[in-house]
Amino acid sequence: MTNETILEALKNVTYPGFTKDIVTFGFVKDIQIQGDKAVISVDITSSAPEVKAQITEDVTAELRKLGFLAVDVHITAPQAPKQLSNSVSGKNIAPQVKNFVMVSSGKGGVGKSTTSVNLAIAMAMQGKKVGLLDADIYGPNIPRMMGLNGVKPEIQGNKVQPLKAYGVEMMSMGSLMEEGQSLIWRGSMIMKAIEQFLRDILWSELDVLVIDMPPGTGDAQLTLAQSVPVTAGIVVTTPQQVSLDDSRRSLDMFEKLHIPIAGVVENMSGFICPSCDEESDIFGMGTSKAVASEYGAELIAQVPIEPAIRVGGDTGQPITFHQPDSETAKRYHTASSNLLAFIDKVNAEGGADNSAVQPTTPPGVSACSTGGAAASQAPAHTKSGGGCGCN
Ligand SMILES: Nc1ncnc2c1ncn2[C@@H]1O[C@H](COP(=O)(O)OP(=O)(O)OP(=O)(O)O)[C@@H](O)[C@H]1O
Ligand SMILES: [Mg+2]
Repeated sequence: MTNETILEALKNVTYPGFTKDIVTFGFVKDIQIQGDKAVISVDITSSAPEVKAQITEDVTAELRKLGFLAVDVHITAPQAPKQLSNSVSGKNIAPQVKNFVMVSSGKGGVGKSTTSVNLAIAMAMQGKKVGLLDADIYGPNIPRMMGLNGVKPEIQGNKVQPLKAYGVEMMSMGSLMEEGQSLIWRGSMIMKAIEQFLRDILWSELDVLVIDMPPGTGDAQLTLAQSVPVTAGIVVTTPQQVSLDDSRRSLDMFEKLHIPIAGVVENMSGFICPSCDEESDIFGMGTSKAVASEYGAELIAQVPIEPAIRVGGDTGQPITFHQPDSETAKRYHTASSNLLAFIDKVNAEGGADNSAVQPTTPPGVSACSTGGAAASQAPAHTKSGGGCGCN
């Protein structure tokens, strides 16, 4: 009897839920023959007890067929995620993450992804463990902005390792599909994708997961709010009136979804001339403050138009990391300090809670088609308008 014979026999043990076997997956780490006893060590990627039990049973059966009277199977599995989240009740499908930050805007192209990238990096530079989830399934831009374009993640069993750049863990639909491919998905598939991004990505025990949303107020936003307790919502806007009108819809959505509003980031607020460093007013400046205060929220940062921000995004060299002394980087750091202080405040007051926005409709029926829990639970201070898409 040799180790090779045993390895050959173990190829008959498929990994539960897969067609591949534990040898092909590379999970068999050690084989020892001690007379009529075999000792097998297996490393698996699932923390589910039923996976462990199934493999033990199948390995034992295969080795008994070879004539072993005793079989010891040692299985090393990752720990089940610890409940670290600051939420006290409600639903949380990514409990190893302490705080979730949703970055939204009413309008497209106002700088959500740019803000998400730079805020995430600023928080990581301030010593936090940070993740960045690109929840813009149709228009995933984060991989390019983080310098991770074309980099494919490592798959472990049925989970995916996040990529890492600038001290930030990152995952995006753009990292999972070929460049230039388009997706034509129904709303229900978007909702499933968001859930999988939270459940099936091997996020570390993060202090903060920043989530870059698609523009508007729809299925993605509602699913996220129902899946995890969002600690802080950020609205990105430009100073023009047309963008501010749409921002009210995002602020209104946060209220309806019971998401504490950290504040508004006014992007493209003034222009810093690259030749003379002078700041001039183009789209208006400071106009978002009044809209923020209608919702009791702060203006947490004013970020100017600066060509280096666009170049940083296009080349995957974010300004906060690559030009830390620039005026813009300082403003992102201010925004990140404000955000962290807000998160502390929310947690000191009991933490985020999404129990009021759980679907009350039977499975398969969209909460949106009936008005849903989110809309019916809306606090008294609500505005007319699109809201979370439920009404
Ligand atoms: N303050 C700024 N100065 C200069 N360029 C900027 C600034 N903010 C964003 N940009 C550039 O504007 C473009 C749009 O920004 P971004 O992709 O972040 O917007 P978005 O709101 O995420 O868009 P979408 O709604 O399509 O997801 C990008 O090319 C980005 O580099
Ligand atoms: Mg974007």
